Amino acid sequence: SEIRVFCPATIANVSCGFDVLGLALDSVGDEMVVRKTQEKGIKIIKLTGQDLPTETLQNVAGVAGLALLAAFDYNGGFEIEIYKKIKAGSGIGSSAASSTGAVWAMNQLIGKPFTPLELVKFAMEGERLASGVAHADNVAPALFGGFTLVRSYQPLDIVKINTPKELFATVIHPQIEVKTSDSRRILKTTISLEDGIKQWGNVGGLIAGLFTEDYDLIGRSLEDHIVEPIRSILIPGFDSVKQKAIEAGALGSGISGSGPSIFALSKGEVAAKKVANAMSEVYDKIGIDYDIHVSKVN
Ligand code: HSE
Repeated sequence: SEIRVFCPATIANVSCGFDVLGLALDSVGDEMVVRKTQEKGIKIIKLTGQDLPTETLQNVAGVAGLALLAAFDYNGGFEIEIYKKIKAGSGIGSSAASSTGAVWAMNQLIGKPFTPLELVKFAMEGERLASGVAHADNVAPALFGGFTLVRSYQPLDIVKINTPKELFATVIHPQIEVKTSDSRRILKTTISLEDGIKQWGNVGGLIAGLFTEDYDLIGRSLEDHIVEPIRSILIPGFDSVKQKAIEAGALGSGISGSGPSIFALSKGEVAAKKVANAMSEVYDKIGIDYDIHVSKVN
């Protein structure tokens, strides 16, 4: 009656797919232990690695877990230990990792009454607490793995997208914190038809490239004409990091989720590591501290 889970970090948006595209990282993430208790409700009994609230209603795992409990007739509760490795506010789905880890583990412990799509809905309540908006582009890949598309929010429709075997992500996190709620507030609420045309061309191209494992097409489609021009202003050295990543051989590069992390996708691990060096050099030169990860997309 106890389960230990790996809760993967995720890259939302993936340039052209604001709020709809996301991917999961194979080797970057948190750990969580979830245990059944006689006592009803949810208790976060331990949280290490980050300074985050442990009160159930203030914690994304707590809130997502309560959403699941509200939909299930269960005469007990759960206690949760969270070992954070993902930094809050880094742009690689810290809140989604905790929200999905909790509901996935709870579902296992009670005999899997819920479908993955239902688990996404519960986990989205954690996202609502974290950012004010119940977006699914981090929780969907965290639950399904690989690349996912939120085809529609109402009704919720999630599509698993083929993930090419040699696709690797490099993610660099300059040590500043950007709150998703802040980086959403600065966005415009309307787009021009001209930008729309470019954007949906790229979304279609990216999806086609992922299914046909056409790495060049994936690279050509990693453009964002709508969100990146606005949000990149919040990220020190963004243009140089992106440019150096592409010069070093990345297929493409952009903002990870709501930032400040910057991601690049590459074909193969060797290429992704070379890209990591090029991205790091930019921050080494301007004197900004950072974390950097290279991971298979899976
Ligand atoms: N799609 C969301 C955003 C992801 O960009 O605001 C936040 O992690």
